[in-house]
Amino acid sequence: MDANLRVFPDAAQAAGWVADRIADKLRSVEGRRAVLGLPTGRTPVPLYAELVRRHREEELSFARATVFNLDEYWPLAPAAPGGFAAYMRKHLVDQVDLPADQFFIPDGACPAEDVEEHCAAYRRAIVDAGGIGLQVLGLGNNGHVGFNEPGSGPGSVTRLVDLAPATVERYAHDFPGQEPPSKGITLGVADILAARRLLVLVTGSDKAAVAERALKGEVGADCPASLLREHAAVTWVLDEAAASELGRC
Ligand code: GLP
Repeated sequence: MDANLRVFPDAAQAAGWVADRIADKLRSVEGRRAVLGLPTGRTPVPLYAELVRRHREEELSFARATVFNLDEYWPLAPAAPGGFAAYMRKHLVDQVDLPADQFFIPDGACPAEDVEEHCAAYRRAIVDAGGIGLQVLGLGNNGHVGFNEPGSGPGSVTRLVDLAPATVERYAHDFPGQEPPSKGITLGVADILAARRLLVLVTGSDKAAVAERALKGEVGADCPASLLREHAAVTWVLDEAAASELGRC
């Protein structure tokens, strides 16, 4: 089995292993800040529940963490319930002791004329924080990472992107009674690859085919997640359902 692939019996154990790595990072910073890059989506919900449990029951502290979120829909009304800022507040930020000024997420309500500068400033903020030490990622059904849809290359940086129709359709239920956003602001593949360590969490049988494509297929922009294989310190964290099409490895 590949050294950078961990397969767990179920999603809870996969999330628990990623929680262990985050806890290790939070406990090892000694006076500095632990700079985390975090994703949204269905997949990391059990991860955040486990981190919140450890905060409440085991004194895991986020006081020395800085969090940069991976992506956000655009355009989005401020504090829109279907947005990723609301998701992060609900699942993590409002539940732990992360200082309010240490949580960063692209602004889905940024006016169109300011988006380019906003994206550049987001990248600068990451660099100023010392770079992302640990970046957790999910995997989109079409091979996207963050909102880097197929066609996003290894040099892509934080920017406004068009979402693939399948992506808009998949997440439309988060925007009941309204037109779902058709664009997003995302860290680019280059920004993701600049993180010192990557953990890609992939669970569920509906991710088995794309996990196989990302891990075993050709490396290229057709499947942006495959580009993560170029990183020197990436670990793919799968449950057995997501790993079911990998065959012998
Ligand atoms: C979404 C998010 C990604 C996320 C991915 C997987 O579109 N932009 O950051 O990792 O798709 O989502 P899920 O875990 O819900 O399958």
